[in-house]
Amino acid sequence: MSSLFDFDAGPASYAVMGNPISHSKSPLIHAAFAAQTGQRLEYSAIQVDAGGFEQAVGNFRASGGKGLNITVPFKQEAWALVDERSERAVQAGAVNTISFSDDGRSVGDNTDGVGLVRDLMENHGVELCGARILLLGAGGAVRGVLGPMIALQPSEIVIANRTEEKAVELAAEFKRSDLLRGCGFQSIGEQSFDLIINGTAASLQGDLPPIPASAVSDKTCCYDMMYGKEPTVFMRWASEQGAAKVIDGLGMLVEQAAESFFIWRGVRPETGEVIASVKAAL
Ligand code: ATR
Repeated sequence: MSSLFDFDAGPASYAVMGNPISHSKSPLIHAAFAAQTGQRLEYSAIQVDAGGFEQAVGNFRASGGKGLNITVPFKQEAWALVDERSERAVQAGAVNTISFSDDGRSVGDNTDGVGLVRDLMENHGVELCGARILLLGAGGAVRGVLGPMIALQPSEIVIANRTEEKAVELAAEFKRSDLLRGCGFQSIGEQSFDLIINGTAASLQGDLPPIPASAVSDKTCCYDMMYGKEPTVFMRWASEQGAAKVIDGLGMLVEQAAESFFIWRGVRPETGEVIASVKAAL
């Protein structure tokens, strides 16, 4: 309940939950957004053990928490747990942003896809309308970005995955056979793409998906959803093939955070300076 003394209340409380979580950049990013926009809030990182997610969310809400970001491996569990879901969350089958309303209801959203699309279009000037796109991987990361990518009307999206059936099934789910094709890496074909996005977990293991060199031309933009201090194996490979642009996923991370911040606070932070400061701190 609000009162005359609301200005004495503590800062609004937010957190990211996942496992592992100690290396999460989200607290740094949201602290930077809060400072920049003059919003009074605190944002922490909470490590949650397998089997403890529902309890952890309940505890956070009971302590007055206003919103959560959810990361690996709990995005699907979060989807199942929330009282309401945005259309983006329904489409993604995963929730990365929860808002708690004053009446105790939870609303789940997914800002990953819009984060990727904004980073590509606004930060890097990549045109998606009419583009021929190759998406590598068919797990949660790729599922989460498909809806917002399709909405921008590319001319073609090929989803290629190590386990072919998963790519075929994912493509079929979106019911856009005019636009979407799922296949194994061996069936990508010989044509080049305007944009290649690595959404596999291969970079984490230092592996490179077996992509045909013909997929890259000197006009191709290559994007890895992963990021690190050094370029990933995929990024190094893309540079060696002569790609026009090679981009890591740090901008996507900051842009999805900005969208979450906007959902919670109704204010859209400037992302450029935050991307630069997180990059410098890697
Ligand atoms: P996420 O939610 O991060 O997408 P995920 O659902 O476990 O995680 O999916 C991981 C993706 O990376 C899958 O597409 C996986 O391929 P499979 O479906 O064949 O397992 C892909 N992947 C993981 N390691 C890989 C590697 N070394 N080479 C190629 N693809 C890999």
